[in-house]
Amino acid sequence: MPMNAPTYAIPGSVPAPPAVSAPASADAQSAPRTVADVLRASQVEAVLEELERDLVGLAPVKQRIRDIAALLVIDRLRVAHGLAAASPSLHMCFTGNPGTGKTTVAMRMAEILHRLGYLRKGHLVAVTRDDLVGQYIGHTAPKTKEVLKKAMGGVLFIDEAYYLYRPENERDYGQEAIEILLQVMENRRDDLVVILAGYKDRMDRFFQSNPGLSSRIAHHIDFPDYTPAELEAIARTMLAAMSYRFAPEAEHAFAEYLARRIAQPHFANARSVRNALDRARLRQASRLFAERERVLDAEALATIVESDIRASRVFAP
Ligand SMILES: Nc1ncnc2c1ncn2[C@@H]1O[C@H](COP(=O)(O)OP(=O)(O)OP(=O)(O)O)[C@@H](O)[C@H]1O
Ligand SMILES: [Mg+2]
Repeated sequence: MPMNAPTYAIPGSVPAPPAVSAPASADAQSAPRTVADVLRASQVEAVLEELERDLVGLAPVKQRIRDIAALLVIDRLRVAHGLAAASPSLHMCFTGNPGTGKTTVAMRMAEILHRLGYLRKGHLVAVTRDDLVGQYIGHTAPKTKEVLKKAMGGVLFIDEAYYLYRPENERDYGQEAIEILLQVMENRRDDLVVILAGYKDRMDRFFQSNPGLSSRIAHHIDFPDYTPAELEAIARTMLAAMSYRFAPEAEHAFAEYLARRIAQPHFANARSVRNALDRARLRQASRLFAERERVLDAEALATIVESDIRASRVFAP
């Protein structure tokens, strides 16, 4: 049975983390005593800084991630003092429109939880309904369990989770998947974090019909649409990561492009920015390709000029 559940490697430059030493095995000398001790041992600060640097905007999201990191760090110190620290429930729900960074942040979250010793492996398995729910009777449970097995020790990211629930069909197999998920979210919460993602209104309705699921989710995080200024900053970040940059007039043209594109159907925030930049790179390449005898220096090869943007359909009359 082919399984369409990609396991993402976490991108980023931070070196592999040494596991935070388990309190039971730590001798008196190496037991962490300060927040700095825990942060040093886990290198979580590096991931938090990377999050701050690589991701534009998302201030409330970043704050929530810092809060969760703080809770886990303080729990480490509590354990070192023999204080009770019940493994907190960290299942989450990320709501927001397409391209607002939900998948990206989920990958960073997996990394942070791994560095803090909460997750054994810290990988992310991204699935949708079709990966969990079978077509025929008896197919759903094995499918769901197979996915769960793959995700153990990391994050199971369920995109558009509300498709699991189809009230119009009373014998829908999605219900079976939800029930298995509920059990695992409760019993294996020290080894698996489930993140449900999707549109806010549909997710709210889904939770109303599935209160058991809602009550197992500790963190509801909303991803707002990006402002035009944030989308421009995201474009610059993406270009820089690919060793490109805008010529000054191209930057203005791109701001104009965005204003028009946002007003069109199917605008998808940062995802649309990425797609627009991919097309601009194609046009830049064609433009340079046509100049057969020109000596192309790094500057020419790295620069997106105004016409690379203005040739877009979005500017068509
Ligand atoms: N704040 C940001 N700063 C920089 N790049 C971003 C930011 N948010 C998203 N991106 C980039 O935009 C693209 C889309 O983001 P992502 O896939 O995380 O969005 P999503 O919310 O999961 O969207 P979808 O609902 O369509 O799956 C990715 O290439 C990601 O790297
Ligand atoms: Mg996504």
